[in-house]
Amino acid sequence: MQQRQILVTGSLPYLNADIHLGHLVEYLQADFWARFQKMRGHEVRYFSGDDTHGTATMLRAQKEGRKPEAILAEVKAAHERDFRDFGIDFDHYGSTHSPANEAVVHEIWAALRAQGCIEERDVTQLFDPEAGIFLADRFVVGGCPRCKASGQYGDNCEVCGATYDPSELIDPRSAITGAIPEERTHPHLFVKLEPFHDFLEAWTQAPGRVPVETANWLKGSFLSEPLRDWDISRPAPYFGFEIPDSPGNYFYVWVDAPIGYIAATREWCEANGDDPDRWWRNPDCEIHQFLGKDIAYFHTLFWPVMLKVAGFQLPKAVHVHGFLTVGGEKMSKRKGTFIRARTFLEHLSPEYLRYYYASKLSSRVDDIDLNFDEFVQKVNADLVGKVVNLASRTARFVKGRELPVSYPAGRDEGLFAAGVAAGETIARAYESRDTNRAMREIMALADRANEFVESRAPWKLKKDPDRADELLEICAIALNLFRQITIYLAPILPRFAEESARLLSIEGTTRWRDASEPVVGSRVAKFEHLMERVDPEKVTAMIEASREISDATNDGAGAADETAGAFADAPALAGEPLEAECTIDDFSKIDLRVAEIVSARAVPKADKLLELELSLGGDERRRVFAGIKKAYQPEDLVGRLTVVVANLAPRKMKFGTSEGMVLAAGPGGDELFLLSPDAGAKPGQRIR
Ligand code: MSP
Ligand code: ZN
Repeated sequence: MQQRQILVTGSLPYLNADIHLGHLVEYLQADFWARFQKMRGHEVRYFSGDDTHGTATMLRAQKEGRKPEAILAEVKAAHERDFRDFGIDFDHYGSTHSPANEAVVHEIWAALRAQGCIEERDVTQLFDPEAGIFLADRFVVGGCPRCKASGQYGDNCEVCGATYDPSELIDPRSAITGAIPEERTHPHLFVKLEPFHDFLEAWTQAPGRVPVETANWLKGSFLSEPLRDWDISRPAPYFGFEIPDSPGNYFYVWVDAPIGYIAATREWCEANGDDPDRWWRNPDCEIHQFLGKDIAYFHTLFWPVMLKVAGFQLPKAVHVHGFLTVGGEKMSKRKGTFIRARTFLEHLSPEYLRYYYASKLSSRVDDIDLNFDEFVQKVNADLVGKVVNLASRTARFVKGRELPVSYPAGRDEGLFAAGVAAGETIARAYESRDTNRAMREIMALADRANEFVESRAPWKLKKDPDRADELLEICAIALNLFRQITIYLAPILPRFAEESARLLSIEGTTRWRDASEPVVGSRVAKFEHLMERVDPEKVTAMIEASREISDATNDGAGAADETAGAFADAPALAGEPLEAECTIDDFSKIDLRVAEIVSARAVPKADKLLELELSLGGDERRRVFAGIKKAYQPEDLVGRLTVVVANLAPRKMKFGTSEGMVLAAGPGGDELFLLSPDAGAKPGQRIR
């Protein structure tokens, strides 16, 4: 087999968030793939680093009264520790705020200038006179010009879905200082993209370049019309690199972020005596980029243009993954499903998550769901029940003995040879990132090996001293099948593979081809427990530890301004919103009505509940139990109008049946605000 040269990248995580289970989908998927390629004997490097620049970092540094550099160092150390503890094996983890990165940014900028790709134009934007900065959309808050809902951020209304220009907001304010923003005009620099239309079309639509879903999405949205110019400058103050020939203006964070991939490579080469051009200016080097669907367009429209103009090698493939949901929903701090990498590590072994993600991931862009029942079941049934069990039920009978000097192939029913053959199928599945398929194939091998052990019943042979040799042979077969399986699992479970090798007194790194050579003659060590079962109580404890009162800062928020600002009028990112979506059909299933509270009383012995009697107009009455006792005195509620979900299935509670639900806002406890319609609404009226 010819040795390939492969450069793998994981996108550069933002500085302003801890690594969480959503991020890990990507860094683990890329790690599985990079480790697999290394085991196959290829020359592989896996790089990533922190994405540091932008308004968010600047504001945070101001708020904390620290230098951005101090924050950078602290966050980088935490990110690196999280990745390392999850077994994510970067060859180098860089930072966009580095001299290496600034040097490459300057090179690419010079090329863009030299080739006439840059244009200057005035941009009018809202400006915060108190903070002295231009406000990205996300930092402007005010009333929706359409439905008048207050507290709407940026250019769209969360209540009625309207989109508008932030300057149209009613009584707009800066979300940073509360000041009234003014419109100001400043010259910006743009990269002209339309001259690259044909190039981008050909490049993105080439088979295997990006997933089919992404290719179609690009074709249907961006590439179906002339490409808009890309605004790549931001006026001072901005935390980033100043544009060399445009003093007072800085590169927009998304310019220098992907360039960080090249910078990380240069730093690694510097430290290891290698030549960066061998990786980034070499058609024989395959560049594979792993990233999420929310940032696919940065990597398939702007980034290829920068690379092309500056004469760098373009990626062979961009592997786009979907988003992680937990229990079928977007991760939520309030529900405890926004789980940080660190919190997971405090409760559970990282190998559980590595295996679970591997079993869920494929080459598709679909979102993947973390379901904790399935998580516990899969790890326990597959890894502990099938794989570890294979070793634990055989190794103990031959502890301290040496395996036979030749492998008893005649007695294994062809299982080892079948495992070698399956190795090719498994390798193909890994190559195409279909780890779901790879895991199924591997577990099928484990099933067959366990059936073999079952049929030979070594525990019976053990009792018969005359059959000691037969016992040794059976165990040698089982342990070799076990070893074969642990090699196939090694890209996913490297530590486990290493410890398993120790059981057979084997040292050294695990190579894929070792799976076709049976182990002979070596001594069987004492069986140490290789993996514990997942304790569901630890899962519960982890979720409890992750629970926070509000979802105010959620996944990627804070990052969002940097992403959305790039193409102010971009179609929904990656074609799909990040929040779970509710269609108009879904919504119209909910029958919301105006209701009058006719009577209210405290439910004795329940510290949260009030029992409400509601009138829905005419003589339609409902009894509803509402958890609002801490926020309201019953007598204050009588006669008041509110909103009820009228077609909620009746719910039997300890104190009686609840026939609906009243709506309230706020975090709960004594901070709850019952919704009510404006004066004039009548009980029973449907809310539309
Ligand atoms: N800084 C940019 C990337 C710059 S690359 C030149 C960024 N950072 S991020 O921290 O928000 O996300 C890093 C990666 O993690 C992205 O590929 C993103 O898609 C992925 N994920 C972040 N949250 C995720 C989930 N909940 N689920 C799956 N992947 C997610 O974007
Ligand atoms: Zn609105």
